[in-house]
Amino acid sequence: MDNQKTTKNSPEKVKLEIEKKYYWCTCGLSTKQPFCDGTHKVKGEFRPMHFDVSEQKEYFLCNCKKTKNPPFCDGSHK
Ligand code: FES
Repeated sequence: MDNQKTTKNSPEKVKLEIEKKYYWCTCGLSTKQPFCDGTHKVKGEFRPMHFDVSEQKEYFLCNCKKTKNPPFCDGSHK
């Protein structure tokens, strides 16, 4: 992913639930990081990444937008 805005150099710890659909922000412009709020439509370059989880627990979602395993943090912010 190129040209996206890094929002924070640390992941976001969030509790995710099964049977829910989530949209991870790929552009970095959302005010509801790490989730999409629709702001990407202004530039039109990015689309959110849809994902869900198979286990209800706390996850670390990437905020720096450099992860190789989106939407999860892989330590690339370090
Ligand atoms: S606001 Fe960033 S992908 Fe939607």
